[in-house]
Amino acid sequence: MSVLVTGGAGYIGGHVVAGLTSRGESVVVIDDLSTGVPERVAGLVFSVCDLASDDAPAQVEAILREHDVRAVVHLAAKKQVGESAQRPAWYYRENVGGLANLLLAMESARVSNLVFSSSAAVYGNGTGVPARESDAADPINPYGRTKLAGEWMVRDAVRAGWLRAVSLRYFNVAGAGNDLSADRFATNLVPIVFERLIAGEAPRVFGDDYPTPDGTCVRDYVHVVDLADAHVAVLDALSAGRAMPAELNVGTGVGRSVLEVLEMIRDVTGHATTPAIEPRRIGDPAALVADSSLIHAELGWSAKFGLREIITSAWSGFRAPRVSG
Ligand code: WQD
Repeated sequence: MSVLVTGGAGYIGGHVVAGLTSRGESVVVIDDLSTGVPERVAGLVFSVCDLASDDAPAQVEAILREHDVRAVVHLAAKKQVGESAQRPAWYYRENVGGLANLLLAMESARVSNLVFSSSAAVYGNGTGVPARESDAADPINPYGRTKLAGEWMVRDAVRAGWLRAVSLRYFNVAGAGNDLSADRFATNLVPIVFERLIAGEAPRVFGDDYPTPDGTCVRDYVHVVDLADAHVAVLDALSAGRAMPAELNVGTGVGRSVLEVLEMIRDVTGHATTPAIEPRRIGDPAALVADSSLIHAELGWSAKFGLREIITSAWSGFRAPRVSG
């Protein structure tokens, strides 16, 4: 029996795969390699597969049957907020259509356990600080709406009776499990700042007039290894047949401002980081912090790593020699 990880050649997927294989699980990966790198799945059973394509249901069903898959972790998706605003229909086809094709394949192959990669982006401005799973979801960009639509689809399949599933709402994921597993696409704060420091440019702070303690946006930064552990814990609970909430936050419960992150980066890297204050970026909620009490109560999960470990591991991976891809 094995676990299928979609998007397993990606930054988060690679860590989930490592978390599963390190405890002896047999893992099968599919990935379209649009942002994933083959080195992350070296030695694993791997197929190139575009989940949004018309032949994906048949292709995935065959993979599920061939490898006796018992559970799926679904991470394959597009995840850039700005891009989603420019190409919303494409985001819906990739994220919502891709999930629909996966569920069709799982239903046909009678694979009934799913962990769905959702996002704190589903909350938008609809929450308190910290955000609870029961708070109103009110996404403020197409990316977040595709994730919320995904959660609804998953809930509907559960209601239909054949699926058992949990949607994990990731907060701001960063850090690396080892140097090769670091995030290679600088689309989030920590790697963006690293790139600018290396280029000799000042890091940019998008807005310092938010209603937060220092005026910059507050986020909940969670280490990617902790996040991977949460997936393993959910899979265990699903396999054990335990009833689970439909959605769980995955965050530390600790909010950090952009300036606090820059301060930690200065401390860890030794690079002076006098930031340039720029106008607010469109679509940024002022503060997004997880209430992580539900996942702790359900699974005993809580983050082991803090911001220093996140920045230290990310920096080490960022500076390591790159393999191709
Ligand atoms: C963090 C903070 C920026 C760059 C989004 C999604 C989330 C997840 C991650 C998928 C914000 C500020 C950033 C910079 C800055 N999705 N910033 N200067 O927007 O919180 O979350 O990406 O991966 O679901 O919503 O993440 O890393 O872009 O920004 O001041 O150069 O850093 O304004 O306040 P975000 P982020």
